[in-house]
Amino acid sequence: ETYQEQYRDQYHFSPEKNWMNDPNGMLYHKGVYHLYFQYNPGGMTWGNISWGHATSNDLLHWTEQPIALEVRKDAGGNVQEYFYSGSAVVDTENTSGFGTRGHPPLVAIYTSHYAQNMTLPSGKTVVSGQESQSIAYSLDDGMTWTTYDAQNPVIHEPPTEYITADTIQNFRDPFVFWEDSQKHWTMVVSLPNDHMVLIYTSPNLKDWTKVSTFGPANAISGQWECPGLFPLPVDGDKNNVKWVLQLGSNPGGPTIGSGTQYFVGSFDGTTFTADADTVYAAVGGPAGSSVVEDWQDTSSLASSTAALNWTATGDFVGITPVTGEDKVSNVLDTYFHGDSNTGAITSEAFVIAKSFMNFRIAGGYHPYNPSTYGTPSDTETSLNLKVNGKVVRSATGQNTGTLAWQGWDVSNFANQTAVLEIADFNTGATGWGHLIVGEILFSESLAEEQKANWVDHGPDYYAAATYNGLDGYDRVAVGWANNWAYGSDIPTNPWRSSMSVMRKYSLATIDSKITLVQEPYNLAPISSTCYDKKWDTLPGSQFDLPVTGKSLDVTLAFDIVSTINSSAQEDSTMRLLVRSSKDGSHATVIGYDASTQQFFVDRTNSGDVNFAPVFPGTYSAALIPDAHGRVTLRVLVDWSLVEVFGGQGESVITAQIFPSDDNESISLSYTPGAFKNVYIKVKDVASVWK
Ligand code: FRU
Repeated sequence: ETYQEQYRDQYHFSPEKNWMNDPNGMLYHKGVYHLYFQYNPGGMTWGNISWGHATSNDLLHWTEQPIALEVRKDAGGNVQEYFYSGSAVVDTENTSGFGTRGHPPLVAIYTSHYAQNMTLPSGKTVVSGQESQSIAYSLDDGMTWTTYDAQNPVIHEPPTEYITADTIQNFRDPFVFWEDSQKHWTMVVSLPNDHMVLIYTSPNLKDWTKVSTFGPANAISGQWECPGLFPLPVDGDKNNVKWVLQLGSNPGGPTIGSGTQYFVGSFDGTTFTADADTVYAAVGGPAGSSVVEDWQDTSSLASSTAALNWTATGDFVGITPVTGEDKVSNVLDTYFHGDSNTGAITSEAFVIAKSFMNFRIAGGYHPYNPSTYGTPSDTETSLNLKVNGKVVRSATGQNTGTLAWQGWDVSNFANQTAVLEIADFNTGATGWGHLIVGEILFSESLAEEQKANWVDHGPDYYAAATYNGLDGYDRVAVGWANNWAYGSDIPTNPWRSSMSVMRKYSLATIDSKITLVQEPYNLAPISSTCYDKKWDTLPGSQFDLPVTGKSLDVTLAFDIVSTINSSAQEDSTMRLLVRSSKDGSHATVIGYDASTQQFFVDRTNSGDVNFAPVFPGTYSAALIPDAHGRVTLRVLVDWSLVEVFGGQGESVITAQIFPSDDNESISLSYTPGAFKNVYIKVKDVASVWK
């Protein structure tokens, strides 16, 4: 298939048509790389979630295959079961009994997201919204799959001690691998809102026992999704193997919306223990976690948060605001009573004043004097932050007692109008409720202080997963090159989303820290050098390359002139413009700022950026020059994507771009005198769709 649509990436996988999100079930088997993916066979936005399928012999050229696991619907066309993210293994020893030793089965392990209350063929009952872990097997090397209806789901719900109204509905994305030292299957699976992964083991892929947990740690302002756990030698030394736990965090990534973080540690077959230098102190978060210093009372931000008074809206009736009782600070404290009051209450609108602003909201829903009035028979309440009418952050909780909602980073909504809303509550017929938002505190610095080891510092690398079935410690990863913050708005047609380039993962000691390093998987078969040049000293302040291109692999390396004085160094920036108009007025700018030792991708002027207010932006990441004082940037450019690998690949930025078709120019622009021994090499990357 030749794909020529504007924005169709030429060497990154995308489905011919329709919506795609996470990579799933990545498995190398009998010379074939399988890539399954979250797919909507019937539309260009998320829905009907099934497992799509593509195969490759070289991780470059892909053939799309028939759907592997198709959404289940009832006779009326209503969804019963979605096939959410998961993984796949070759069951070589036929531990599952689905095949034979001579003809081993492939087994896929995925999350069943049920959309109705049902009794399943296995006799197990599930409720609408429930998430459980199920398996399917293939006896034809991954082309067709049979769900294990006799027992599914094989993990019906989380272990008793973790069951809450939330975890029944948020328990997903199993990654399974064979752990050879212990001779059992291991699964990591996520409790997204608890910021925890559970580790299970199994002898046969059917019976699973929870053996340990990990988390919360580091980035916890979003949901934890799509965990993965794998070993890698440090600096190539097979006698010094560490384990990497990788997981998605959405929202609460390093820029906006989705992000992928990792921990380095050890794994003894049952428990993952993170190395001390990979975990940072908790800041903010729900009650019990430590609090940052500079939380401010709302009253001191009066000008920007004018009149944070709450008013009754919707069909809620009988709300009687009272003052002076049980208040922590003057936010909301209100009694309401029985008569089956339901609905939502919303604060007055306020403006998010600062570019980095975080909310920490402590509050709850107490039964008021239950011995006299009885307990409200409520089920679950949500707290929503709405910006310009759209829910951008949401938390739910059982509100039969006090509850604390955790802080949110709202850094990307500066100067926009917001409301807080308590939604979906129900007092029941007789109870008296006492609904309190005790405090709303703001911080300007939580987002900056909430540290994590980001796999990618850009906005477009999410739900990353790695191949099972490769040789030895080989690890190849791929991520969904999109972001839940604007994923369904991107201007591609008739498909939505590409995958990132395939990335070889390794661990290297950098600046005395064991660091995940990424390198594009072998692009040599499809690339050819079209330009290279060296300068001892660069001419002037700008250089137009005599070549153009839309799908490229560019290496740029330079030394920083150390004699430059510190004031001059304030503006010591090297910029590479790609997908640029001839005059350079529209371009994606990749740069290195020697004064801050950071590289960046600026897509604010890259092309179509107006389809979502949060799309335009500049994303940066630390990159320290190597031991010889040299900086290297490897820049992959495709028709709607840039991926920049800094240094050895210890720092990566991935960002989608939607440039005008005829913007193909490439140029350098730089602070005169700040760089020397400059080298650039441009390779043309051929389309894999021919
Ligand atoms: C991550 C995710 C997963 C889930 C899937 C549903 O992007 O939310 O947690 O399994 O997408 O499509």
